[in-house]
Amino acid sequence: MVIDDEMSMREFLSIMLEKEGYSVVAVDNGSDAIESIKKNNFDLIITDIKMPKVTGIDILKESIMMYPHTPVIMITAYASTDVAVEAMKLGAYDYITKPFKVDEIKIIIKNAIERKTLLDENFSLKEELKGHSHFFNIIGKSYKMHRVFELIQKVANGKSTVLITGESGTGKELVARAIHYYSERRDKPFVSISCSAIPETLLESELFGHQKGSFTGADSDKKGLFEVADGGVFFLDEVSEASLSIQVKLLRVLQEKEFKRVGGVNDIKVDVRIIAATNKNLRNAITEGKFREDLYYRLNVIPIELPPLRERKEDIPLLVSHFLNKYKSMNKKDIKGVSTHAMEMLERYKWRGNVRELENVIERAVILETTDSIQSQSLTDEIKEYTTEPPPVISYVPSKGLNLDEYIGEIERNIIINTLKKTGWIKKKAADLLNLSFRSFRYKLQKYHIEKKE
Ligand SMILES: Nc1ncnc2c1ncn2[C@@H]1O[C@H](COP(=O)(O)OP(=O)(O)OP(=O)(O)O)[C@@H](O)[C@H]1O
Ligand SMILES: [Mg+2]
Repeated sequence: MVIDDEMSMREFLSIMLEKEGYSVVAVDNGSDAIESIKKNNFDLIITDIKMPKVTGIDILKESIMMYPHTPVIMITAYASTDVAVEAMKLGAYDYITKPFKVDEIKIIIKNAIERKTLLDENFSLKEELKGHSHFFNIIGKSYKMHRVFELIQKVANGKSTVLITGESGTGKELVARAIHYYSERRDKPFVSISCSAIPETLLESELFGHQKGSFTGADSDKKGLFEVADGGVFFLDEVSEASLSIQVKLLRVLQEKEFKRVGGVNDIKVDVRIIAATNKNLRNAITEGKFREDLYYRLNVIPIELPPLRERKEDIPLLVSHFLNKYKSMNKKDIKGVSTHAMEMLERYKWRGNVRELENVIERAVILETTDSIQSQSLTDEIKEYTTEPPPVISYVPSKGLNLDEYIGEIERNIIINTLKKTGWIKKKAADLLNLSFRSFRYKLQKYHIEKKE
């Protein structure tokens, strides 16, 4: 469905989509659109944001309520991208800014529809997976991780490029390996390379190989990793770190499945499935001119987003016992479990390093522990202090950057908890002490999930 009050835009999109083989319903106003959305489960909705009376945002909200799987793409003029970002937060699939490039829209549309099909099919898969606490060797029973498991199964046998995103330590590489494992390519190589670990000139020859004599030190022909991966899966880790010139070459591999060796003249054809991963926001990198938009669309055919550990706390006890088992046998220690207090601290902690950090903490605790269950004393200072003290006030920004909202939030949360402790958890008193209305105080309690632990 195409919704725009401008006739030229409606016609342009309708003609383009019909040429691509889709059937299109086009309407010129929001209220007719909503009427129609109530009656039909569209595969895709493309709507202008700015329209008189009923806006694109109204349509988006209605559609998400009725058919959460239907992707909604927003059209916006350059001047109003703020609204577009708002729309993304509300659950829009993507937005396109006017004037736009036809090729890009085509890819966005194709991806959106592919994703809807996946989500629809996943409904039945979800039933099968219910109650499982792991998949391949990925531990998790949270709803968010189950969504990831379903996606892995669904996409394993396709050829489409997968883009795995998520903070450091959330298991991106594990997911890439799981996709390989469940695919028809499992007996073929899984080749992985991190674009950040290797200097640019070397990276190019690592990826594509080189011809003898093409640069100092190239004293023989060398196969690139793309050739090594032929028939299998190529895992391109930290793809945001690839230089712009490497990006151009990657684009070519994705589009034509061919490339040249460094210093070579012949095109080499390969059959590889590409899985890319990044812990950066590629959209920001695009805005900053560090990442090619066309490459992004090629990579992001099937996005898999790994949730940070703090957003799936119900997985923490499972992960803890998994790592506990692993490290107690490695260290030949007879540790039966984790004390309630220690577990509480583990569940409360922020886990900026996600599962990797949790694993390290458990390994260390197993080594340090002298009783037969992990006590809070064996946890790191960071975890112990996290529950009691506010984060240190810093006057400089660490070189790896800082998430200001999270940082301020943490301070705010700590002040609130300490105030509540002071008032014996009488909320009204605490709100008064902090000079907040009761309403906004209550809002903050919800926001930070603060409740009195019995
Ligand atoms: N759900 C999980 N279950 C079991 N182990 C996990 C899980 N997620 C991550 N791990 C483990 O945590 C460690 C980090 O995972 P991985 O290397 O896949 O993270 P990543 O997302 O690639 O991180 P980075 O961005 O830093 O490269 C690995 O040892 C992995 O086995
Ligand atoms: Mg990784």
